[in-house]
Amino acid sequence: MYFTSDNAVGAAPEILDAIVAANDGSLPSYGADPMMAQVESRVAEIFETECRVFLVSTGTAANALALASLSPPWGAVFCHRHAHIEVDECGAPEFFGGGLKLALLHGQDAKIAPDALRAAIADTGAGGVHQVQPAALSLTNVTEAGALYRADEVAALSEIARDANCAVHLDGTRFANALVASNASPADMSWRAGVDVLCLGATKNGALAAEAVIFFDPERQADRIAQFEYRRKRGGHLVSKGRMLSAQMAAYLKDDLWLKLARHSNDAAARLAAGLRRIDGVRIENSVEANMLFVHLPLSVHRALQAGDARYYLEPPSQSDEGNGESVRVRFVTSFSTSDESIDAFLSIAATA
Ligand SMILES: Cc1ncc(COP(=O)(O)O)c(C=O)c1O
Repeated sequence: MYFTSDNAVGAAPEILDAIVAANDGSLPSYGADPMMAQVESRVAEIFETECRVFLVSTGTAANALALASLSPPWGAVFCHRHAHIEVDECGAPEFFGGGLKLALLHGQDAKIAPDALRAAIADTGAGGVHQVQPAALSLTNVTEAGALYRADEVAALSEIARDANCAVHLDGTRFANALVASNASPADMSWRAGVDVLCLGATKNGALAAEAVIFFDPERQADRIAQFEYRRKRGGHLVSKGRMLSAQMAAYLKDDLWLKLARHSNDAAARLAAGLRRIDGVRIENSVEANMLFVHLPLSVHRALQAGDARYYLEPPSQSDEGNGESVRVRFVTSFSTSDESIDAFLSIAATA
């Protein structure tokens, strides 16, 4: 009954097996192994276009190094005020970006509204050398509030950004969950919608530790790609036994394992939501399209679940364990390995509280 995050579980067996299989023999290091070449061609096939792919071992490194390649130190990166790059990366984008500035936007469900983006871009940089200059837009899909951007919403925001000469970055830590929830193709949800760089997460969806930074349209982005390679090395993310990362990513993408795992995770969230909706006094705040739920739990239910050793986070974490005196707001996240049994055990405790 562990619903804290999708990284509270280990790795998918297929990915562990691939690491073990990659362990034999000697191979070129630093990403020059044959599995990395397979990853590049598989990514090109999945996304139906030419691209360059780089692997790193954390989502923070993927985001921060990607943004540093998209923005000069005097650039503004527009993002939601709840974006992971703002809230949970300890200033890594600003650090790797040499002081670039995150320009924070508001919006329901951690989604950026087109008008808010337009206004923020218009408000930024007109003072010339006295101000940071619009440089990039960063979106997260699935958002930090568990919501989805549809492909046409990504396209609308990208168009505004591109009209202002801003690059478009997508934090796709849960990109697979967004795809299966919206039935969009990887291409429609990324480069066809104007995304320049996608940080494709795998760790939260079954890998041990592997994230892919994908640059679309490599000819146009040659300078950014060249920069990225040096930045990745300087940032300590050019892993010497690179095959251990490429083996994970190759297995993740093989036979659409990534989509199968995300489908499981989203289905588990739907099962949990359906059960919670039957319990008196429980209110689910979001529409549960992917694998995250934001829920108001009556204190009696919260107490019973805690006593039953269920794990989940208060949201926000700064909230008292008494919530507002009647209920607490909590976050549940399901994963590729959440079992029906654990959900049912959790629901039966909640139902009898
Ligand atoms: C939306 C989002 N982006 C990026 C990350 C990157 O995480 P990490 O650096 O922990 O791998 C996370 C992890 O919680 C996330 O939820």
